[in-house]
Amino acid sequence: MKKIKIAPSILSADFSKIGEEIAQITRDGADVIHLDVMDGSFVRNISFGPKLIKESRKYSKAVFDAHLMIVNPWNYVPQFADAGADIITVHYEACKDKLKDTLNLIKSHGVKCGAVINPDTEVSKIADVIELCDMVLLMSVFPGFGGQKFIPEVLPKIEEVAKLVNKIGKEIDIEVDGGITKENVKLVKDAGANVIVAGSTVFNEPDRAKIIKELREI
Ligand code: DX5
Ligand code: ZN
Repeated sequence: MKKIKIAPSILSADFSKIGEEIAQITRDGADVIHLDVMDGSFVRNISFGPKLIKESRKYSKAVFDAHLMIVNPWNYVPQFADAGADIITVHYEACKDKLKDTLNLIKSHGVKCGAVINPDTEVSKIADVIELCDMVLLMSVFPGFGGQKFIPEVLPKIEEVAKLVNKIGKEIDIEVDGGITKENVKLVKDAGANVIVAGSTVFNEPDRAKIIKELREI
């Protein structure tokens, strides 16, 4: 059984005091800080870039997980690696036939890498690169915004990835992102996910340590 890791998405944090927010969520028990990078082009929203990540690094020793929702992500890999990301994930939809090269580029910077697919992209699109990945990220909402509703059609895809990961026989995390709540977290774990992203569910709660513990233990 893989260790369950809770990954609060700072997209739902207060950006006016982001360092403090990251320090506090780490003390509250976050294993991973999920960093949603959006460029207004790959998705219809703009969030933040490598500067914010670099300057936040001193506030937490948790794993920094940079989820790049940007076009031509290979152009920015060096900057996110230099900013202190521990893992960088890139979308199949942004990379297409450059996915394998982009994953190798990330690794060449000494950073862990992961492939991401949207809710309407089949697992078969990334099947041949899974063995290169440290993590596979399955979107359970269409990327762009926090606070959206979980799309249950992701569940069989998690199972499919879990089977492929088992066959490969390497430690590869399976992360799920979007619309995760206390009500559906067990479903994604049972399907095989072990890295649980939660933005609004964690940050909208006054007692964040409690909700992180609940998401981990349910
Ligand atoms: C969506 C982002 C998610 C999102 C999660 O584009 O990738 O990480 O912020 O937020 P919730 O948990 O509120 O759906
Ligand atoms: Zn994300």
